[in-house]
Amino acid sequence: MASEHVQDEKKQGQALVTENKQENSKKLFIESYGCQMNMNDSEIVASILAKEGFNTTSVLEEADLVLVNTCSIREKAEQTIRKRLQKYNRVKQKQNRKMKIGVLGCMAERLKTKFLEEEKMLDLVVGPDAYRDLPNLVKEVEEGREAINVQLSKEETYADVSPVRLNSNGVSAFVTITRGCDNMCTFCVVPFTRGRERSRDPQSIIKETLDLWNDGYKEITLLGQNADSYLWYGGGLKKDFVKASEIAQATSVDFSKLLEMVAIAVPKMRIRFATSNPHDMKIDVLHTIAKYDNICKYIHLPVQSGSTKILKAMNRQHTREEYIELIDNIRTIIPDCAISHDIITGFCGETEEDHKETLSLMEYVAYDYGFMFAYSERPGTLAGKKMDDDIPADVKQRRLAEIVALQRDHSHVRTQEFVGKTMEILIEGDSKKSNLHWKGRNTQNTMAIFPKTGNEKIGDFVMVKINDCTSATLLGEIS
Ligand code: 5AD
Ligand code: SF4
Repeated sequence: MASEHVQDEKKQGQALVTENKQENSKKLFIESYGCQMNMNDSEIVASILAKEGFNTTSVLEEADLVLVNTCSIREKAEQTIRKRLQKYNRVKQKQNRKMKIGVLGCMAERLKTKFLEEEKMLDLVVGPDAYRDLPNLVKEVEEGREAINVQLSKEETYADVSPVRLNSNGVSAFVTITRGCDNMCTFCVVPFTRGRERSRDPQSIIKETLDLWNDGYKEITLLGQNADSYLWYGGGLKKDFVKASEIAQATSVDFSKLLEMVAIAVPKMRIRFATSNPHDMKIDVLHTIAKYDNICKYIHLPVQSGSTKILKAMNRQHTREEYIELIDNIRTIIPDCAISHDIITGFCGETEEDHKETLSLMEYVAYDYGFMFAYSERPGTLAGKKMDDDIPADVKQRRLAEIVALQRDHSHVRTQEFVGKTMEILIEGDSKKSNLHWKGRNTQNTMAIFPKTGNEKIGDFVMVKINDCTSATLLGEIS
């Protein structure tokens, strides 16, 4: 299974560090949970605080300020973060009484002042659209007061903030293109924690990508909760587009156009994007992907369920048949495209029949990999308020185990298809298991491991012949 995903709260929290400025004297320990958007937001936060005299550290005990960028997507994500806060508090009480502790991101937005009341160790609560206010908020905290800003914004895209690349391999970087989500899937907390959808100025996206290329980066991932819904018409909420002037409408840039602009502006940069919402993925995007070699042949296309009845209850804007039609179009227009999914098991009212429809849809698509979750009721969502979370935990888990097992089979079928072929791999670093081997991914996002020859380095594109595979990894040699 791929290790990265735009909304995967299972990923371990990461203490994020970067190269530091000598003149800075204060120490920031920043840890990120949840999706890639959160990782990128932490880079934006580190950039804002670097100007306030903070260098990042990976040593919790020496931090003046500890920030955790939080995730609310499932209850388990929130529980993990609460445990982490207890740990910070123990360190504060025993080793560093001056340490200040703050929370950022989705839980901060969801819980607001309640968070300060429930977790007494907290000094600071900041929502995803309020990071520009951090210099003021941190000052308040340093003067001994609690501080909070959870204002959501119609405009904020942090377009002009140059993220400091935290824990970077120097090869791959995230570039955020949209913030927020207007879709209102009934299970999902994101529209409440990240607000309405807005897009970032395409020129600032191109500039950031060019800067990354000039700094030696070889691959970017354009990020949005709903990347395909990107729409620039001069700024403002996506839902206000209809009110924009005729000129703004005529010169607007949609996702297909943006992809093309970036692909042309930085022709050797590998370009990935996530996440694609099926109902927003238009045919012209597929043609753009097919047309440019530097746009990766990989689409993450969450389906959530194979049953039209459940999709309707989830307020997904597509049926099973429409999703299948999109898959068919992808296969026709981009024949070598890898496809991955997100699926939720045990959503309200899911019968055994609905579950079987999910399994049969998986059989039809034979996804390269996927991210699978048992439904977790979230407070404030439509399903949380209006629907009965009626599938017992053991049934959710059994269905989850069945789709995970099926996915493992399909992943293995997909990796086997690469055996015997030679393909371009971007070297990302040493393999986890051995520093005599490199790791890197092909355009389809599948990880390959191969022996070093001594003639190549991190960031090089090399041709690798694949000789063997597991269900998640290709094994090969430089050809
Ligand atoms: N319970 C379980 N999984 C969820 N997801 C989003 N909300 C929930 C929830 N309440 C999953 C969806 C989404 C992915 C990021 O997380 O599959 O695509
Ligand atoms: Fe990312 Fe927030 Fe969603 Fe978690 S809840 S996956 S942090 S947007």
